[in-house]
Amino acid sequence: MNGSKPGKPAGIGRTRGRGHSRCAVRWSLSPHPGPLPWGEGQGGETARMPHSRVGHSRNWRTRRILRRSRTFPELNKLNLAGPRVRLRQWNDADLEPFAAMNADPEVMEFFPQPQTREQSIASLERLKRGIDERGWGLWAVEIEQGVAGFTGLAKPDFEAHFTPCIEIGWRFRRRFWGRGYAREAAQVALSFAFERLRLQEVVSLTAQLNERSQRLMQRLGMTHSPRDDFEHPLLPAGHPLRRHVLYRIRNTPDLLKRLNQELNETADRIVCPGSDSKN
Ligand SMILES: CC(C)(COP(=O)(O)OP(=O)(O)OC[C@H]1O[C@@H](n2cnc3c(N)ncnc32)[C@H](O)[C@@H]1OP(=O)(O)O)[C@@H](O)C(=O)NCCC(=O)NCCS
Repeated sequence: MNGSKPGKPAGIGRTRGRGHSRCAVRWSLSPHPGPLPWGEGQGGETARMPHSRVGHSRNWRTRRILRRSRTFPELNKLNLAGPRVRLRQWNDADLEPFAAMNADPEVMEFFPQPQTREQSIASLERLKRGIDERGWGLWAVEIEQGVAGFTGLAKPDFEAHFTPCIEIGWRFRRRFWGRGYAREAAQVALSFAFERLRLQEVVSLTAQLNERSQRLMQRLGMTHSPRDDFEHPLLPAGHPLRRHVLYRIRNTPDLLKRLNQELNETADRIVCPGSDSKN
């Protein structure tokens, strides 16, 4: 698939430097640098659009990317890895951890209800199919101990004031919370969205009550305006989770540099088990 050992995030490997041993030192997103498969130039589509369309550029561009990426399944072969995580297509062996995660009431606290095994089977199929068709989606996040959860990009399937758009989403098994895996996986997915898909903006949405998810959005540098808050149209009026917040992050010139730098800082903090720090 990508030359890394199966079952092990691509970035993990021992290296030496500055008198001590560390793991997974340099991180890079771009296994396929250069133009997108469909040949968009560096300036992006918006730069070439007639003036009259500039105001609609974000929606227009999002629709175009969604349409075109369906015909480029080779995007699916991307190797998306951070220092400790690898984002990849799902396989059948992932069903057990995936279903256990979706059945955990703590993980599903801010969803209408936990998922049954049958719902998880159907949901895993949908995630797989989405990645097969578009080349990107909600990827499995693999760490050294196995599948920790999922992170990736999706197109909300309802209408709201901010749609069409591409959102970033995440869900992790409870035992892997509080270790920075979700943040790292999200940084990789955002880099993909901005560097490869050349999106101008990515949003993230969650129930107003879901503070942990919002903290992650803030740590990623996403911003929130109360004007963007909305009632989720797929939840009934009066439902305690209906009020949602929307966070946004735009593709600014220094964003990819910052994401890269933060991933490299994570890599620099990893010390290999058994390494001698006095080397
Ligand atoms: C939302 C969710 C993904 C956040 O996971 P998380 O583990 O809190 O997020 P991170 O990976 O960024 O970890 C951050 C925490 O790890 C700590 N941490 C430890 N080591 C770290 C490292 N190397 N790098 C970064 N943070 C690290 C941070 O201090 C932070 O702790 P804090 O929350 O006490 O401040 C998780 O709670 C979840 O799966 N929830 C259920 C599903 C859900 O609600 N999804 C969203 C629906 S819209």
